[in-house]
Amino acid sequence: MPEARDGELQLRVKACGLNFIDLMVRQGNIDNPPKTPLVPGFECSGIVEALGDGVKGFEIGDRVMAFVNYNAWAEVVCTPVEFVYKIPDDMSFSEAAAFPVNFVTAYMMLFEVANLREGMSVLVHSAGGGVGQAVAQLCSTIPSVTVFGTASSFKHEAIKDSVTHLFDRNADYVQEVKRISSEGVDIVLDCLCGENTGKGLSLLKPLGTYILYGSSNMVTGETKSFFSFAKSWWQVEKVNPIKLYEENKVIAGFSLLNLLFKQNRGGLIKGIMDKLIMLYNEKKIKPVVDSLWALEEVKEAMQRIHDRGNIGKLILDVEKAPTPLMANDSTETSEAGEEEEDHEGDNENKERMPFIQ
Ligand SMILES: NC(=O)c1ccc[n+]([C@@H]2O[C@H](COP(=O)([O-])OP(=O)(O)OC[C@H]3O[C@@H](n4cnc5c(N)ncnc54)[C@H](OP(=O)(O)O)[C@@H]3O)[C@@H](O)[C@H]2O)c1
Repeated sequence: MPEARDGELQLRVKACGLNFIDLMVRQGNIDNPPKTPLVPGFECSGIVEALGDGVKGFEIGDRVMAFVNYNAWAEVVCTPVEFVYKIPDDMSFSEAAAFPVNFVTAYMMLFEVANLREGMSVLVHSAGGGVGQAVAQLCSTIPSVTVFGTASSFKHEAIKDSVTHLFDRNADYVQEVKRISSEGVDIVLDCLCGENTGKGLSLLKPLGTYILYGSSNMVTGETKSFFSFAKSWWQVEKVNPIKLYEENKVIAGFSLLNLLFKQNRGGLIKGIMDKLIMLYNEKKIKPVVDSLWALEEVKEAMQRIHDRGNIGKLILDVEKAPTPLMANDSTETSEAGEEEEDHEGDNENKERMPFIQ
């Protein structure tokens, strides 16, 4: 049982967020992966159970959401008070566990890094995912923002109201965007990496900003593939800084976890969380929860992301009992090192399982 140290809160966890980065951690597809065994997870919601020395502003019993530097997928966690935020009365624990990573990432990129303003245009990949939907909702808080998004086709019907122009993830999105807006876009949010870096830069209007914030392309199967890792790295466009100033383009990178846990910007993020909670209270944003899973079902939950099946965020519900697997359920993992088949279209006919919200 972890105990709250000085400046920490101990939380009884109700729900945990499952993020794409958790897949990458499991595969060791990140910088300096921690030694195993480890408890994964970077965010959760729950109830304050104990206060460490020096903690102010919280009481036992408060409903909260929190960032945790690993170890979030547990029944009890301890985390520094600067990473904990009270949740509004009408926000459920599932929504709260879906909130911090997705919305802070989206907000920081749009407003702190790229300075999104009225009339601008944004391109976002994986538009149906957790961050993608947060980006779309935050864009809708600014007048006349055009959102271009890529996503697997079967998601288009579900997310069409949040994204102005949707393209299939395999479409030639550079051509598609230019067909609609010959000048390109003001902001490109790239979580795929690889060849998309060059494509994203080519789509920027003068004074536009390209932000790299993920490398989803490195995840191809159940286990780490050195081939896709090397391919992604090799395909990243080599950028000539002289061209940047000649063309008036901005390139940026963003990593929320590094900002929080390595670069000590908890204070900055606290201010952003306050603004986001205000937007939630004004009913301008609301986390999209794809499905709830018991802790025992984490393998199937991760498989759903691998299979590109999610629309919004997957939540691990600590109090949920595991759902018995359906007879025709196939959540087989691929063999070690084996590249997985392209799952395009698989989900169209897939029977949705009973735990979908
Ligand atoms: N830098 C940061 O601070 C930060 C913070 C949060 C997230 N991120 C990054 O943002 C991206 C989205 O994160 P998220 O947690 O919101 O996840 P998510 O978008 O919900 O992730 C799942 C979706 O990603 C798409 N995808 C793209 N490449 C994939 C692949 N190789 N395998 C499986 N799915 C793939 C699929 O959608 P489609 O098939 O519809 O494209 C899939 O449904 C990730 O790259 C993540 O690492 C970065």
